[in-house]
Amino acid sequence: MRYELSPSILAADFACLGEQISQVEQAGVNWLHIDVMDGNFVPSISLGMPVITSIKKKSSMFFDVHLMVQDPERYIEDFKKAGADMLTVHAEACPHLDRTLHCIREAGMKAGVALNPATPLVMIEQVLELVDMVLLMTVNPGFGGQKYIPYSGDKIRRLRKMLDERGLFAHIEVDGGISTKTIDQVLEAGANILVAGSAVFGGDIAANANALMTKIEE
Ligand code: DX5
Ligand code: ZN
Repeated sequence: MRYELSPSILAADFACLGEQISQVEQAGVNWLHIDVMDGNFVPSISLGMPVITSIKKKSSMFFDVHLMVQDPERYIEDFKKAGADMLTVHAEACPHLDRTLHCIREAGMKAGVALNPATPLVMIEQVLELVDMVLLMTVNPGFGGQKYIPYSGDKIRRLRKMLDERGLFAHIEVDGGISTKTIDQVLEAGANILVAGSAVFGGDIAANANALMTKIEE
């Protein structure tokens, strides 16, 4: 299985965002996690297309865009133009999830579906064939720096089993509270894409990214 660290720029210093992204890229990281929050689906407002457009010009990483946005189908083309490679939408925010996932693929991006901690896996059972990735939130979305929710491990395990039983391969991404302390349990449960915000951008970025990547490679 392929494993990737996907550092979340939400925890970066936006005054020197380009510089901090270069640091993770130079440390050998392939994916970049970009959190878009609309102040509606989640209380916070983070960043949008202009920022993605600017950083796309400076980076060749895979842009893993996590939309915490109500009715995200309104913006699919815009995110494609801005440079998203993977577009992940929340099942809770999409009344027509099947159509939204098809539209993402038709726009030429990989499609992901995300679930909040309290949302059961049954919500996405019907659409697993349509996704390249399932993002399981391991904190309640909206803010960086929160504590990992321990019952997530069981959900990851059940999802990997469900995918295996149906002969499907989809990435399982985990997002929230992932650090050198919690990463082993999510890897062991079957996650293969690991988002980390404060655990990468808090302090020495290259050293933090290397410490997490070493855990992933073990
Ligand atoms: C939370 C975001 C996360 C967040 C993770 O709503 O989706 O991507 O940045 O931050 P940490 O790793 O600090 O929990
Ligand atoms: Zn995220």
